[in-house]
Amino acid sequence: MPGEPVKIAVFGGGYGAKVPLPVLADMDEFQLVAVWSRTPERARELADEHDLALGTSDVEELLAHPDLEAVHVATPVATHAEIATAAARRGLHVLLDKPVAMDLTQARAVRDTIAAAGVVGAVNYGRRFQETRDRLLQRVAEVAGAPRMVSIALVFDDHALPESRPFTWVQDARLGGGRLQGYGVHDLDLLLAAFGEVDSVAAATEVGVKERRGPDGSPQAVTAEDAYAILIRFRGGGLGHVSLTATARHKRGDVIEVHGDGGTVRLDAEKRLHWGRAGEELQVEGPLEADSKQAYAHVARNFHAAIRDGAAPDPGLDEGLRVQALTDAVRRADAERRWVEPERV
Ligand SMILES: NC(=O)c1ccc[n+]([C@@H]2O[C@H](COP(=O)([O-])OP(=O)(O)OC[C@H]3O[C@@H](n4cnc5c(N)ncnc54)[C@H](OP(=O)(O)O)[C@@H]3O)[C@@H](O)[C@H]2O)c1
Repeated sequence: MPGEPVKIAVFGGGYGAKVPLPVLADMDEFQLVAVWSRTPERARELADEHDLALGTSDVEELLAHPDLEAVHVATPVATHAEIATAAARRGLHVLLDKPVAMDLTQARAVRDTIAAAGVVGAVNYGRRFQETRDRLLQRVAEVAGAPRMVSIALVFDDHALPESRPFTWVQDARLGGGRLQGYGVHDLDLLLAAFGEVDSVAAATEVGVKERRGPDGSPQAVTAEDAYAILIRFRGGGLGHVSLTATARHKRGDVIEVHGDGGTVRLDAEKRLHWGRAGEELQVEGPLEADSKQAYAHVARNFHAAIRDGAAPDPGLDEGLRVQALTDAVRRADAERRWVEPERV
């Protein structure tokens, strides 16, 4: 029924517990009913905290929960496809965390299964709804025109030392870890939202801190990147570069610059937005908010509207697949040390 809360479960006790669980618990559009964690005690603890009917580490038990209508999948990337397709086959709507899957082939299979099941599929590219990035996209549409040079540069210090992070799936390339899946995909999503098609990419990734200790204290080889630098040629002209280091010794706010043929838009490290058309002084607004919970609430409201009112999912799986195609091209360009054209989706 339109307006009825959607009965939803959250897979994941990391980000899932930090953002989706508290945000969904506060929204009239949703009724939280269950939570999954790999660890049974953690699942029960989260269920108790939010007064949910079920907290489990058994995927099938959660998916079979009576009356459940939808799931948010916030688990390691390598597990997204299996959980999402199992949920869709049971007739559940699926909000996938980003990126959709390990690669475009897997992401297409997820999209096709969701389409065949006739359920809603959406992907949590919520960062573009943070006020900083939402306003940037608006100003780019107003003043920038065609891109001439665009840059997105992120600097973090949270992976700088071997002991600053334990070894988890995030450091394991086979499980879909790495900073490209963590942050890079959001930035590629932003570029696609701002400028549409990308012609080709060149890229380099690096593991700066090569060993970390696992939960049992044993040393583990890190295989997933903690830094990347991507060069982009936009279709129709213009260049871009997207970079991140997670091993800096002094972190800094995100800096995004758009130099277009019509004007300029810049987000500075203090979250102030500068913009202006050619020939005008730049105007400034901010500091703006970059709130993850508010951004997720936007994604969740859109997911509800897609389920109850038949609105187009926003962000939808097709957008997720475009980012996936671009990410695959970045990975191939890095591995093969050459320019690569992303597959069209
Ligand atoms: N949209 C965003 O802004 C945003 C931000 C952060 C993360 N994410 C996404 O959320 C997803 C999860 O990331 P996270 O940071 O929350 O990860 P996490 O905290 O390491 O783990 C999330 C969940 O997966 C379980 N898990 C961990 N390693 C596992 C393994 N090897 N096999 C099976 N399950 C495992 C954890 O179990 P325990 O509960 O037992 O620890 C936890 O329940 C990813 O897709 C990531 O991209 C999105």
